[in-house]
Amino acid sequence: MIPAVTSPTPTLQSALAEIGGEIDRAFDALLPVPADPRARLYEAMRYSAIGGGKRMRPLLVVAGCSLFKVDRARAVRAGLAVECIHVYSLIHDDLPCMDDDDLRRGKPTLHRAYDECTAILAGDSLHALAFEILADEATHEDPFVRVELALELARAAGPAGMAGGQMMDLVAGEMTLDLASVTRLQQLKTGALIGWCLEAAAIMGKVPAEGRTGLRGYARDIGLAFQIADDLLDHEGSEEKTGKRVGKDAGAGKETFLSLLGPERARQQAQALVEQAIDHLRGFGDEAELLRAVARFAVERDH
Ligand code: FPP
Ligand code: MG
Repeated sequence: MIPAVTSPTPTLQSALAEIGGEIDRAFDALLPVPADPRARLYEAMRYSAIGGGKRMRPLLVVAGCSLFKVDRARAVRAGLAVECIHVYSLIHDDLPCMDDDDLRRGKPTLHRAYDECTAILAGDSLHALAFEILADEATHEDPFVRVELALELARAAGPAGMAGGQMMDLVAGEMTLDLASVTRLQQLKTGALIGWCLEAAAIMGKVPAEGRTGLRGYARDIGLAFQIADDLLDHEGSEEKTGKRVGKDAGAGKETFLSLLGPERARQQAQALVEQAIDHLRGFGDEAELLRAVARFAVERDH
């Protein structure tokens, strides 16, 4: 089995529960269902956004923000924005034209529960909502901070980031990728958004460029470690725990960290990345304990 530890440590557990509740309540408040024909779209957005997922990305934002004493409510708003992008990407990734999946976060995928048109529009709307949240004064009083947050999220989500990585993934079935190419693909597809979470903390904390190196290294390493764990879960995890179909990578004949390294080396690599990620935080004290715990959880999780 993959994990040495299958449940998060108590502090991490309560931090995940706290941010999970905050994100659920924020989505609930932002997405009241109107009494008009758009109701189906709002209901669909709520179906995918509320009450599911580990909320790892929002947790990374708030844990990063706490290093720089950023107001919690503002940090949660930035976390909500990245969760909007994440949820939209899962909705579109599950569509028949992409991965064609029936199960996500333990329930039917959105296009299964509703229909494809609604799922596309719900994804589009969550994408737009992310930028609406960041551009709002409630996220930060300084307009330069708001613009930087939005600019960096656009870069992380677009063709130079997540969408670009997804494109590489879609064409990967037609070619044989080496380890460097798989690393690049995953850095774009998963890593860019994780990178934004820590960058957002630095932006809101007004940390100068030279002070961001450690956080960037941390984000890069946990992004890859998280993805290796994802590959291992696809191979060895259960549908019940992950809440999604497993065994997809082998079925698709795609190169992954696992197919290239084998389970033993993949596990070692993930562990080494976690240690390296934690080392990047050496300039911080106890205030970075939560980030250290998230790094460990990224590979020790069973879902
Ligand atoms: C699981 O996250 C998700 C990933 C490892 C990222 C997969 C990337 C995509 C689906 C990108 C798709 C892009 C487009 C443009 C369609 P998680 O384990 O944190 O999931 P959770 O939030 O449900 O816990
Ligand atoms: Mg998928």
